[in-house]
Amino acid sequence: MQNFSIHTAASWTDPVDCRIIALSEQGWASLPLSLDDQQTEMLRRAREDGEFSAKAKQSLLLHCGGANAPRLLVVGLGDHDKITAETYRQTGAYVVSLLRQKKLGRYLFECDTFGGDEVSTVVDPLLDGILMETYRYIRYKKPEEGTPETLLCVLSGIEEEQLPTVSAVVAQREVISRGVWLARDLVNEPSNVKNPEYLAQHAWQIAEDTGMKCTLLGPAELKRQGFGALLAVAQGSICEPRLICLEYQGGAKDSAPVVLVGKGVTFDSGGISLKPGEGMDMMKMDMAGGAAVLATLSVVAHLKLPINLVGVVPAVENMPSDRATRPGDIVTSLSGKTIEILNTDAEGRLILADALTWAAQFNPEVMIDLATLTGACIIALGHHSSAVVGNDEPLIEALRAAGDASGERIWPLPLYDGYREQIKSQVADVKNIGGRPAGTITAAAFLNTFTEEQRWAHLDIAGTAWEEKGRPGQPVGGTGVAVRALVEFLKKHCSA
Ligand code: BES
Ligand code: MN
Ligand code: ZN
Repeated sequence: MQNFSIHTAASWTDPVDCRIIALSEQGWASLPLSLDDQQTEMLRRAREDGEFSAKAKQSLLLHCGGANAPRLLVVGLGDHDKITAETYRQTGAYVVSLLRQKKLGRYLFECDTFGGDEVSTVVDPLLDGILMETYRYIRYKKPEEGTPETLLCVLSGIEEEQLPTVSAVVAQREVISRGVWLARDLVNEPSNVKNPEYLAQHAWQIAEDTGMKCTLLGPAELKRQGFGALLAVAQGSICEPRLICLEYQGGAKDSAPVVLVGKGVTFDSGGISLKPGEGMDMMKMDMAGGAAVLATLSVVAHLKLPINLVGVVPAVENMPSDRATRPGDIVTSLSGKTIEILNTDAEGRLILADALTWAAQFNPEVMIDLATLTGACIIALGHHSSAVVGNDEPLIEALRAAGDASGERIWPLPLYDGYREQIKSQVADVKNIGGRPAGTITAAAFLNTFTEEQRWAHLDIAGTAWEEKGRPGQPVGGTGVAVRALVEFLKKHCSA
């Protein structure tokens, strides 16, 4: 990542490359007072010439910014009555993507021109969009020539008495965004670097930085305790598995924690049930659930939220080899339940089964697992929403609401009893595939076999963890999905 800093100010006089003001379609009647006569005239002419009417995502770049800025960018917000947090999020991302194309690194948003009842309700989603677009994965590639080395983002036009509130909002949003960046970095890292041990080291580092407790279990300990399902997935790979656990205590000692469990398959080749070659490279992202868990713990610890939170990440690599699990093998999971492994590519649910069983020792208030679990989820919801399946309606509803509020949408699928029939095995307690129909739900039904005693919800992020084409706010690669939604959920959870 580039060097990046944010400043909040009532007004700002240091030079920047570009000033940004916003205008809604209703805003023509009273243009911002900060515009001089020449700027106003140019703006009105652009409207008359049909080039800019302040529709959402329209923009006009004028090379007459004024004394401290050579440029003025006017960005449209569309219909004033239809503006939501998402409008600001997309506007922030869109503006930064424009500035990036022009290789401009110092910019100033005049926040008082963005409307909104309270400036903090504007600044939070606006900065969210800005920071989501600011991220790039540049570890292995030199930036293009002319790319600014440092980025400066000024949020100005904030009334003096609002400054403390807005500064707090900004500081919190920066912590959350850096969490998303961390999750993206982990997901984007190639699997020759990012093995289970690498994830464990990162977790250890996060714990060091924040004073959290970190527990790591290696193969010998996993074997001793009986993680039969997790080890069955790991055994084909030269890379040793790890069970990673981070514990954050921000609440009362005896209050039950929220437990997050994230799938950490550092590469999913499918194992003996090998995946087709085309697109297999994308399966370095199969630890996105685990990355989101680690990043969320890091964010929550930095924000010092008043809750207890545990993060568990089973980390393995799924590879074919002479030692790998075969289709038809039967293993005994940590719970004691036996599993018939009919497809070694349905590995996520196997490692999660043991991790969920192990995590029950924390007597969680609620348990949430996150996983890039099924291709079927992409068929059901595409790339615009994660799926949630669970056994607790209020929990499901709270996650859906947090998804809406954070812009990371989450939509429920049902877990009717009938689906459980599909994972019954002839020869073991359960089998790891449920056939073609409702693949996302039968995977969840499998997980529920190991969470029967818990208030539990499962998020399938297979369709949302990776961006193929790239768009403002989301460059090609890992999205860091669920960090923002989970932090939102946990913040609400504290205040409930
Ligand atoms: N990691 C995959 C699911 C996945 C697919 C994530 C595409 C992201 C994009 C998972 O381990 C898997 O292979 N699932 C199988 C399950 C099947 C064998 C029952 C699938 O969805 O095909
Ligand atoms: Mn798989
Ligand atoms: Zn997988």
